[in-house]
Amino acid sequence: MTARTRTQVAIVGAGPSGLLLGQLLAKAGIDAVIVERQTGAHVLGRIRAGVLEQVCVDLLDEVGVGARMHREGLVHGGFEMLWRGQRHRIDMRRLTGGKSVMVYGQTELTRDLMDARHAADLPTVYEAANVAVHELDEAWPRLTYEKNGLTHEIVCDFHGVCRASVPPGAITVYEKVYPFGWLGLLSDTPPVSHELIYVNSPRGFSLCSMRSSTRSRYYLQVPLTEKVENWSDDAFWDELRLRLDDRGCAALVTGPSLEKSIAPLRSFVAEPLRFGRMFLAGDAGHIVPPTGAKGLNLAATDVKVLAAALIEHFHERSDAGLEAYSPRCLRRVWRAERFSWWFTSLTHRFPEGGAIGARLQDAELDYLFHSEHAAHTVAENYVGLPLDFGEGGPS
Ligand code: PHB
Repeated sequence: MTARTRTQVAIVGAGPSGLLLGQLLAKAGIDAVIVERQTGAHVLGRIRAGVLEQVCVDLLDEVGVGARMHREGLVHGGFEMLWRGQRHRIDMRRLTGGKSVMVYGQTELTRDLMDARHAADLPTVYEAANVAVHELDEAWPRLTYEKNGLTHEIVCDFHGVCRASVPPGAITVYEKVYPFGWLGLLSDTPPVSHELIYVNSPRGFSLCSMRSSTRSRYYLQVPLTEKVENWSDDAFWDELRLRLDDRGCAALVTGPSLEKSIAPLRSFVAEPLRFGRMFLAGDAGHIVPPTGAKGLNLAATDVKVLAAALIEHFHERSDAGLEAYSPRCLRRVWRAERFSWWFTSLTHRFPEGGAIGARLQDAELDYLFHSEHAAHTVAENYVGLPLDFGEGGPS
């Protein structure tokens, strides 16, 4: 038996992109249904970065879910980089004319959006199996899924946020897999410093980050072959100490892990971010290595542009925004891909890069720490480039 419903926009995935898109559409009086393969607890369990650009902060305020973020989030005007035992501060606020970022975990942001769903009357189906989309290039695309032994069909005008069965060749995929991963540990311990520290050490990259003044998030670069079971909490803390400076070691407070996992690093872009009536947003359309903390921010920008385009379609009967969606977002996506790739190559050890690779990285860091222009470049990218960046750009 098939249960059939109808909506205006079917959204696949109840992560931050899907929830935010649903909120923006609901606010504009457009019907949407969110379909998610996993449970809500599983979505919340995915620990991701937690550095929000202003564009993301503004969007959360716009949908009315920013209160807890402003209460509990930490505003950061700079970060540190540790290289050859020396700390170098990137003073973002000074270098960008007053801009900053908000440190607030993606888990918390997702929870705020989940809580707001009920008030917005935004239906969300969790644990939907075999989610598939059909007739994407027709006037009435359909989305099907199975739940509780029933097949459900949603007839809709548009799909957002998914990357589903599109004909081969319709979307080009660009991908780079890095030869290492990040082993992350979350603990209820005060952060080692009040700002983030990105560490390039002979033993590999590490990052000292935080979720609050009492909760820390640390990462270690590890080979792709590494298994999380092989890392006791003590082994993690010991290795982190070996990559930190004396000041960091003295300030480090250790404790039991709340979560520990390994994430591979990948650069990925799907082009275009559209096929017929399906639009890709967030991770469905692009992945960045986490080094530049850009993933969630890119997703938020996609959603901002897509929501405006869908609202224009339904309220003004104009498809200009939908036509422009993919090229407009891809320009910003590629700039963030470039920054994330570059910041990764600057801070990690690449054993296969050989002696010349290591020397070139040294020169790059030396330049960055001694050139105001280079520091400007990092700061400008880290706080987030504007959505539209002048006329022209790559075709
Ligand atoms: C994090 O806190 O998880 C985090 C922060 C900054 C990054 C990546 C991850 O660049």
